[in-house]
Amino acid sequence: MTYNKKSIEDICVKDKKVLVRCDFNVPQDENLNITDETRILGALPTIKYLKEHGAAVILCSHLGRPKGEFNPKYSLAPVAKRLGELLGCEVKMATDVIGESAHAMAASLKSGEIGMIENVRFHKEEEKNDAAFAKELASMAEIYVNDAFGTAHRAHASTAGVANYLPAVCGFLIQKEISIMGKALSDPKRPFVAVLGGAKVSDKIGVINNLLEKVDTIIIGGAMAYTFIKAQGGSIGTSRCEDDKLEYASEMLKKAADKGVRFLLPVDNLAADHFAADATPVVVDSEHIPENMMGLDIGPKTVALYEEAIRDAGTVVWNGPMGVFEFEAFAGGTRSVAAAVANSNAISIIGGGDSAAAVEQLGFADKMTHISTGGGASLEFLEGLELPGIACLQDK
Ligand code: 3PG
Repeated sequence: MTYNKKSIEDICVKDKKVLVRCDFNVPQDENLNITDETRILGALPTIKYLKEHGAAVILCSHLGRPKGEFNPKYSLAPVAKRLGELLGCEVKMATDVIGESAHAMAASLKSGEIGMIENVRFHKEEEKNDAAFAKELASMAEIYVNDAFGTAHRAHASTAGVANYLPAVCGFLIQKEISIMGKALSDPKRPFVAVLGGAKVSDKIGVINNLLEKVDTIIIGGAMAYTFIKAQGGSIGTSRCEDDKLEYASEMLKKAADKGVRFLLPVDNLAADHFAADATPVVVDSEHIPENMMGLDIGPKTVALYEEAIRDAGTVVWNGPMGVFEFEAFAGGTRSVAAAVANSNAISIIGGGDSAAAVEQLGFADKMTHISTGGGASLEFLEGLELPGIACLQDK
């Protein structure tokens, strides 16, 4: 997938009302305090540029999944407040999405001012990509900027539909995400190593298949490794396995062999007799996990094997943890792989979601070349799928 989209630098935004779709879907605690502001920070370059270049900036986003109903729990007001602090200026907050408050706020915004409308998912029309709703959103502005990479895989009214009614370009975050990940996929510095983990093979089917066309080595970790090990005839005890994906796993192993791609699976594991933070880890070989035990992390021999494969990589793309890193006793594999990626000279690209959280939590974030702000979106990008939120923007 290659994209060559116009950005905010390719158009004149001065004295224009600009509707900017961001991904402000940030995690919050029970008191609605924002617990990770990465996505807000990621949107700042675009917002600052527009402000400095004299645009009146109308921000919109979703937050959570309010299912088409107004719900204060999912209000964007805490985001507007934090954004105002970060920018050092007022971010005017409307109390609705396309109602009187939003329209009045948008109409009153002067050049260089910033406002935000409420959570677009307070209307069920948003996720249906309803044309009338998209048109109503568009009616508040003269230009549409999409900078919501994390939501670019959704064909919703605010991520794609509005582009039917306004000149549409991308912001700096989308531009950065697609240029770094796009280059890694189309012209990688080799050896190109993909590290794929997480629980389910089914989540990564398209990614494995697409990356097998491009990489030199694939490293598999997390619970999905057990489906591959079983497909090769290993005994995996009570480890998680998707029996309906065994055939697919065999096909991928064959495809790797045919293409000369090194396909690395765990040779040993940390296993336990139950799934809990206080379970006692035991090192077991992958071929013979005892009947009453489940693999919960990669073992020491596997860590050494994976470290060796990562050490000389030119490019590493990583998506999904190596084990149950939320449990300290089973976080070692993910920590070692994160350290190996951080200490290599490779261009390192971390997919969003769990992998980004793991890298942050384990303290390696500032050593990575790029941590994507998209979970599902970065996976679909690595799968080679067209992202509707980017496809709808004007080509250069
Ligand atoms: C995300 O957090 O991955 C994006 O904000 C998309 O959210 P969604 O999965 O609810 O569409």
